[in-house]
Amino acid sequence: MCGIVAYIGNKQAYPILLKGLKRLEYRGYDSAGMAFIDDKLNLYKKQGKVADLENLLIDKNVKGSIGIAHTRWATHGIPNDVNAHPHLSESGKIALIHNGIIENYGSLRKELKSRGHHFFSETDTEVLVHLIEDIKINEDVDLLEAVRIALNQVVGAYAIVVISEDFPDQLIVARKSSPLVIGVGDNEFVVASDATPIVEYTKNVVYLKDEEIGVLKRNEPMKIINIDNKRKTPYIEKLAINLSAIEKGGFSHFMLKEIYEQPNSILDTMRGRLNTNAGVIVLGGISDYVQKLLNAERIIIVGCGTSWHAGLVAEYLFEDLTRISVEVEYASEFRYRNPVINEKDIVIAISQSGETADTLAAIELAKSKGATILGICNVVGSSIARATHAGVYTHAGPEIGVASTKAFTSQVTILTLMALMIGYKKGTIPASEYFQMINQLEAIPESVSRVFNSNDKIKEIANIYKGARNFLYLGRGYNFPVALEGALKLKEISYIHAEGYPAAEMKHGPIALIDEDMPVVVIATSKGMYEKVISNIQEVKARKGKIIAIVTEGDKIVRNMADHIIEVPETEACLVPLIATIPLQLLSYHIAVMRGCNVDQPRNLAKSVTVE
Ligand code: G6P
Repeated sequence: MCGIVAYIGNKQAYPILLKGLKRLEYRGYDSAGMAFIDDKLNLYKKQGKVADLENLLIDKNVKGSIGIAHTRWATHGIPNDVNAHPHLSESGKIALIHNGIIENYGSLRKELKSRGHHFFSETDTEVLVHLIEDIKINEDVDLLEAVRIALNQVVGAYAIVVISEDFPDQLIVARKSSPLVIGVGDNEFVVASDATPIVEYTKNVVYLKDEEIGVLKRNEPMKIINIDNKRKTPYIEKLAINLSAIEKGGFSHFMLKEIYEQPNSILDTMRGRLNTNAGVIVLGGISDYVQKLLNAERIIIVGCGTSWHAGLVAEYLFEDLTRISVEVEYASEFRYRNPVINEKDIVIAISQSGETADTLAAIELAKSKGATILGICNVVGSSIARATHAGVYTHAGPEIGVASTKAFTSQVTILTLMALMIGYKKGTIPASEYFQMINQLEAIPESVSRVFNSNDKIKEIANIYKGARNFLYLGRGYNFPVALEGALKLKEISYIHAEGYPAAEMKHGPIALIDEDMPVVVIATSKGMYEKVISNIQEVKARKGKIIAIVTEGDKIVRNMADHIIEVPETEACLVPLIATIPLQLLSYHIAVMRGCNVDQPRNLAKSVTVE
């Protein structure tokens, strides 16, 4: 949510910042801005995408080897030029970019106004930069000390970068509950919300910790203090990602690339963890907690969006395979619900980005009640990965498309490995079934590749229904969360209203919507409640709804009932979500492209939601 990038060094900052903003645009894209110091501070801001800012700057002589840049996802104030970052202090000499929310900005703003400050935007960020300057002048301290004192006064979340015309050779950076990575190059620093703008300049990075402030100067080692003014030692880590992982590689959209990456990403998720010959599953990250999982009476899963859907698949997996009772919670509800939770509980937090504010807060709450917290994250070193007691990385590679695809299948893969491992160790899965399932799991990447053979057919179906105003997605058992995820994907990127429903529950409401204009996507694979789903298809047909069915290869019955079928390879019922999700991702993708939507950056959404 909002992307930050900053540079100080001996090169021109503009091209580095521009490229960086393009990489971070998935985090927000309603306005963008940059500030540079050459002989003075120059500020450029524009409503719209990074490309609009680029156009604005095309004939400007943008100069400076120190600069800050921001791409915004609006929280306080509508997207326009004025509310875009960077924001300036009262004198116009200090500029600041910010990701997060300053919760007490209202009272700070009132106080600063009473002291003669003028505000032009509706943002919380402008208040922070005014506060810093106010402290600097009134307490007669240097910029670093002013930032430190100001951060002690703010309540909320922030990742900030501050520059000042009076100190043209330093960037001041700080974070709390919003991510910030510092790339340490040769006599230069590249700072960003994630590592993607950094990786082509250096692989050495420092992940700033909560309430730490860094001072970055050309040709000097970085200095880090915390907001209590204690000196901290920077810990330099090596980035594991490479450039090709964050480029489109010939695909027209990141989303399509990421859909097609799934045979590999699922393989990467299983790599070194599943050994079918020995019949062993090893999840090194949680090995110290296996006994606890074996003794667990209850698992609570928290997440948001697509990650919550992965949690729902896990509810079926864990209850079915391990006989442990599972509750799946929206993190945003859980955190405010005074949930009953104790030290015997295991909480599994699922998050692609590892930065989702509600999920992070749910973790802290569960931790305070003594529960054990395990994480399933994609982004290495992310806040959630660090806040949990232990966890397993999905290793799906960077996911840039805002609508999650490969991260979902990797999350489900980890959850499947966990459930199988525990179930086998507990004896709740008979050995013969366990071996069959792990062999089938190993075959999933190959099966996913086979789904791509239906891409042209899916495109034809997309073409028929691209004008629909509503879609219904139905599934039962393991395929109910698949229906929810299919509907979410469609609404996220094509802006068609879509609902996912348990197929039998349809008759308690959504059936009223069905007529000859209503496409109904039904996941009707052969294992698990097949006959029941067939009855539900009949109910839709009787009301003239149009059936698009996901069926198992060679299906004979649904073929004769549905208007369209998409075949997927056969597998165990508990593994179907890993395969049946793929055609639904493709269907949404093609519909969205045909409707002219911005697939990778759908309106109003952001990939990393660091506000509650
Ligand atoms: C946003 C994204 C979704 C994602 C959700 C949870 O809404 O647009 O794609 O599923 O956040 O994000 P997380 O990073 O915690 O999985």
